[in-house]
Amino acid sequence: MQPILEVRELSQIYGAGCPACFTSTGAQANTNICPHCGTVVAMQQVSFELYPGEILGIMGESGSGKSTLIKCLYFDQVPTSGQAIFWDKGKPQDLFQLNPAQQRWLGNHRFGMVYQNPHSGLNFRVSAGGNIAERLLMSDILNYGVIRNRARNLLNRTEVLPERMDELPSNFSGGMQQRVQIARALATDPPLLFLDEVTTGLDLSVQAKILDLILEIQQQLRVAMIVVTHDLGVIRLLASRTLVMKYGQVVEIGLTDQVLEDPQHTYTQQLVSSAL
Ligand SMILES: Nc1ncnc2c1ncn2[C@@H]1O[C@H](COP(=O)(O)OP(=O)(O)O)[C@@H](O)[C@H]1O
Ligand SMILES: [Mg+2]
Ligand SMILES: [Zn+2]
Repeated sequence: MQPILEVRELSQIYGAGCPACFTSTGAQANTNICPHCGTVVAMQQVSFELYPGEILGIMGESGSGKSTLIKCLYFDQVPTSGQAIFWDKGKPQDLFQLNPAQQRWLGNHRFGMVYQNPHSGLNFRVSAGGNIAERLLMSDILNYGVIRNRARNLLNRTEVLPERMDELPSNFSGGMQQRVQIARALATDPPLLFLDEVTTGLDLSVQAKILDLILEIQQQLRVAMIVVTHDLGVIRLLASRTLVMKYGQVVEIGLTDQVLEDPQHTYTQQLVSSAL
């Protein structure tokens, strides 16, 4: 099968860098700070493929580079080096070679992002419905009735009561804010969704309902997703394949069942046994 996304040797450093940065940081070195020059190697030569409709989990402790990875792919930040090819209806798009307008277009039409912090993903000055309308307006859907209908349908899909669509996000609970964020991310029917710790900090019962919703969306809409989390429970429930990161490096990638039942890397073994 043709992947929807191919990521090749993607790296992100913060600092001047030196020839020894990569060999002096990472899983083996047990640090992401270069001892020679003090540069932070947030992500080091990360490569993987994502297939249409699949959920890939990205697992690792805080600081391992998970958010850096998806922020680069969503154009929130510019990677230091590396390549990512997004296959858009059979046509390859070399993501970091595109101009800013092309990147904005893809970000708005082909990708969706759901952040841990709803303030990063929602405009708190406009209503829940307005948040969806914003994304539709960016994609040149200008008819008020069409936009309102689509907003109502999306909120309905994410189980936000339609009568609440004119309320501001600040009126909603944390779980409901995440539902509005998911509805906004889905507004333009993107084939690829990024989710960064979207249930972290929510009550367990609310977490379970949001995770169910994410699975339902993947099954009904066949959206490919990259799900970033430090929570093995989330990985187990959602991801068919899992990539494990430590200090900016990929230490293991495989079918989730195998990664969790029979982890190959000592770091993954530690993560799995400490979660039991
Ligand atoms: N702007 C920045 N300047 C310096 N270091 C940064 C910056 N942004 C992130 N980092 C560092 O990069 C590493 C990876 O961060 P991040 O991708 O947020 O990790 P995760 O999402 O896995 O917790 C961390 O050590 C973090 O402190
Ligand atoms: Mg993070
Ligand atoms: Zn260095």
